[in-house]
Amino acid sequence: MPKRTLLHRARTVVTLQGPAGPRAGKAMDELAIVEDGSVAIDDHGRIAWVGPSDAVPTAHREDAEVFDCRGRTITPALVDPHTHAVWAGNRLDELELRLGGADYEEIFAKGGGILSSVRQTRGAAEDDLYAQSLARLRRMRAAGTTTFEIKSGYGLDLPTELRQLRVARRLRAAGFRVKTTCLAAHAIPQEAREAPGGREAFVEHVCEEILPAVVAQRLADYADVFCDRGAFTPEESRRVLLRAKGLGLGLRVHANELGSTGGAKLAAELGASSADHLLYLDDDERRALREAGVVATLLPGTSLVLGKPYADGRALMAAGVAVAVATDCNPGSCALENLAMVLGLACYGNRLSPAQALCATTHNAAASLGLDHEVGSITPGKSADLLVLDTEDYRDLVYHAGSPLVGAVWQTGELVA
Ligand code: NIG
Ligand code: FE
Repeated sequence: MPKRTLLHRARTVVTLQGPAGPRAGKAMDELAIVEDGSVAIDDHGRIAWVGPSDAVPTAHREDAEVFDCRGRTITPALVDPHTHAVWAGNRLDELELRLGGADYEEIFAKGGGILSSVRQTRGAAEDDLYAQSLARLRRMRAAGTTTFEIKSGYGLDLPTELRQLRVARRLRAAGFRVKTTCLAAHAIPQEAREAPGGREAFVEHVCEEILPAVVAQRLADYADVFCDRGAFTPEESRRVLLRAKGLGLGLRVHANELGSTGGAKLAAELGASSADHLLYLDDDERRALREAGVVATLLPGTSLVLGKPYADGRALMAAGVAVAVATDCNPGSCALENLAMVLGLACYGNRLSPAQALCATTHNAAASLGLDHEVGSITPGKSADLLVLDTEDYRDLVYHAGSPLVGAVWQTGELVA
C-alpha cells in the first residue's frame, strides 16, 4: 500500500506539464522544469503536488516519508510505446550471422528471422513464456520504464497469438502498466507459404478468426500490421486494419522500415494512433501523418542493430508531426531493453534534441497509447510514475547515454527499482 511520500529538494524537476494529447513542434521542447523542486505523492500513489522545495505545503510534509533528492533530477518514468516483449528463446545465432555480414531480410526469406521466433514461441508453455517475459520487463523497468505497449506476432496461429496476449495481460496483473496489441499480421507463417492460396487464406484467418477471438476475450487494445517489403502489402494491411477498427481496436502500423512501401500513408488514411519505424518517408507522407494526427514512433535501436539508416526525426519535427520513441524490444531486429539509452540514440541517430527525446519517451509515448491522462508528465492527479536520476541535468541521459543514471524508479507511488 503506497504511503505519503515527499521527493524533496531535487536540483531539477522536469515536469513535462503542458497540453494533453500528442505534442509537436515547439511544444516538444518545452519541459516545464522546476529548479530546486519537490514532488509530493499521496497515499493512493498519485502526484499530490509539485513545485519549488521552499513552497511545499505543510500538509504534504506532515506524516510523509521524505526522500532527499539533493543534487538529483526527477523526471516522469519512461513509457515504451512499441515492444514485442513477449517471446520465447533467442536469436543469438542470427546476431552473429548478421554481424558477419548476413542480411536481415535474407535470413527472414529463408525461414529464419521472425519465423524462428515463431517456432520457439509456439513450442513454449504459457508459464515458461510468462517467466521469460517477466524477467525482461523487470530489467526494462529497472532501466526506467513503467509503461509498456506489448505486441503479439510470434504465434501467427490462433492458440499462440492468444497465449502471447494472455501473458501480456498477466504482466499487467503482476503490476506493470501494459497496453496490448495483436500483431497476428506480422509475417506469413511457414505453413501458409507452402500451401497454394495460403497467403490469402492467412489474411482471411487473421480477419475472421484471430482478431474476433482476441476481441471476444478482451485481450488487446490495438491491432498492428507489418506493412512492408516481404511482409504484408498495403492492400492486405488495409483489410486487416479495417477489420480491427470495425471490431473496436485502435490501430498501430509497422510502416516504411524497409522501403517506401505505403504503410505511412495507410496509417494516415485509417487514422492510426501511431506509425512506427518510418526510415523512408517523403514530404507528402510527413504531411499526411501530421494532418491525420498520427504519432510517428521512431525506433533508433533497430537502425543501430540492423545497420540501417535512422529515421529523419528533424524532418518530422519540422513538418509538425508529433514524435514518440520506443525500444522495439524484440528477439531479432533489436533486443535492446533500455529505453533511457534509446532516448540518447534518438538524439545521435534521429537528430532530436534532448528535450524532444525526453518528450518522445514520456508524454508523447503515453499520448500515443491514450495514457497521457495517467502518465508521462509530473502533474497533480496523475499517477506517481517517476524517476530519480543521479545527475543534476536530464541531458546527461544523452551525454552519458547508457550510464546507470536511473537511481530510483517509482510506479504508482511505490519504489519498484
Ligand atoms: O519491429 N519489423 C517487424 N517486426 C519487428 C522485428 C521482429 C523480429 O525480427 O523478430 C520490428 O523490427
Ligand atoms: Fe516492431
